[in-house]
Amino acid sequence: ITVEPITFALFGALGDLALRKLFPALYQLDRAGLLHADTQILALSRESGEPATHKARIEQALRTRVPKGELDEQALSRFSARLQYLAMDFRRADDYMALRDCVPAEQPLIAYFATPAAVYGDICRFLATAGLAEQARVVLEKPIGHDLASSRVINDAVAEHFPESRIYRIDHYLGKETVQNLIALRFANSLFETQWDQHHISHVEITVAETVGIEGRWGYFDQAGQLRDMVQNHLLQLLCLIAMDPPSNLTADSIRDEKVKVLKALAPITAESLHQRVVRGQYAAGNVAGVSVPGYLDEENSNAESSTETFVALRADICNWRWSGVPFYLRTGKRMAQKLSQIVIHFKEPPFYIFAPEQRALISNRLIIRLQPDEGISLQVMTKEQGLDKGMHLRSGPLQLNFSETYKSTRIPDAYERLLLEVMQGNQNLFVRRDEIEHAWQWCDQLIEGWNRLGAELKLYPAGSWGPVASIALITRDGRAWYGDL
Ligand code: BG6
Repeated sequence: ITVEPITFALFGALGDLALRKLFPALYQLDRAGLLHADTQILALSRESGEPATHKARIEQALRTRVPKGELDEQALSRFSARLQYLAMDFRRADDYMALRDCVPAEQPLIAYFATPAAVYGDICRFLATAGLAEQARVVLEKPIGHDLASSRVINDAVAEHFPESRIYRIDHYLGKETVQNLIALRFANSLFETQWDQHHISHVEITVAETVGIEGRWGYFDQAGQLRDMVQNHLLQLLCLIAMDPPSNLTADSIRDEKVKVLKALAPITAESLHQRVVRGQYAAGNVAGVSVPGYLDEENSNAESSTETFVALRADICNWRWSGVPFYLRTGKRMAQKLSQIVIHFKEPPFYIFAPEQRALISNRLIIRLQPDEGISLQVMTKEQGLDKGMHLRSGPLQLNFSETYKSTRIPDAYERLLLEVMQGNQNLFVRRDEIEHAWQWCDQLIEGWNRLGAELKLYPAGSWGPVASIALITRDGRAWYGDL
């Protein structure tokens, strides 16, 4: 990998995302020799005071966040030497002059916005006035808007100063190793692709379960809810990667064109079908991994009246030749029993049974793609039980590929490491194009409109469970069940 010298300007450098994810990812890139010797990192935040104090805070965050075995004093001091803290008010044009003085004219500038989206327009405008826009790529964190209309306002404000080819919209799920492996799995193995349609697949499940609650983010989360926070972006991106047609090459636009076609083919969930197809839940007090936790309404700074959802399960249908009649069941929630992100592809049963009828229920192939934890891929196949006394007794067992066991020496990088490296290299493959975001909002907006119109019911579930009972009914109604231990 060749890397050019760049200036990386992180707006919102003392925020939670920057300290928890972005600085550790930059450190790991530096440690792996993937930052050029002349690359510099500008930590930008409105907090005044001694720059050294803020730098120390960032270094402390690294010591807390980076696993012990990966903390290397030499790499830390090299990283620290690249790091410069600059206090600025992102809404004051004058403050951008000090920024300009720190950016060498000949170097690409990466401006990473880890700030509320409401400020993106101002930052872009002032970068342009300071003469920095020409050399800059901008990286936008989610959420980009609250609905289609507000996301358009933000995208328009950014587009006034930057062409789409220099805008990188983050969906950190696209940086996860196994998510990228979906592309390899599907398009480098003819085995799967020839089976990848309604003739062979009966249904698909996508589960993104979290054990965390809202982690002190009440202000943001209560406005957003789980549909906007997780489904509009991460789950729909996963759905697109599973459902899209083969792109004709690996360029960013070929892949994104195919994803957009899937989003356009999603059947709207109308108010009439809402009760059948969507379940909204909110966690009540419970127990997660042996620890008692409060319900959503009793979280710090909460509003006890809130009816925001912390869980969503829904059935999505894709209206095209490939997927007609194949439901995609999606579910995601906070404070669930286990942290688990996985996709399960259920293949159809054989057309005719030659085995004992009582074994019929057993027979089905499934492809399980585990994003986290224990990244891996497993194909459930039917084999015969061993032993003279067993006759033709069938059992279902895995053909398994566990990434950390199989590729022992390879450390699995965090999603942000991959994404930051891609921006530095100018590759947009793993970033979301404007039309993707907007089609995804459009689909979610009509669903939310149905909720608002009908006063969607909120089902409670105890923290530490797999969600409201109604989410089980959602899938059993179609004669199916959520896969595995769930
Ligand atoms: C973020 C959401 O985008 O993704 C959070 O805003 C959520 O609410 C997080 O907790 C989950 O990410 P991961 O990588 O831990 O699955």
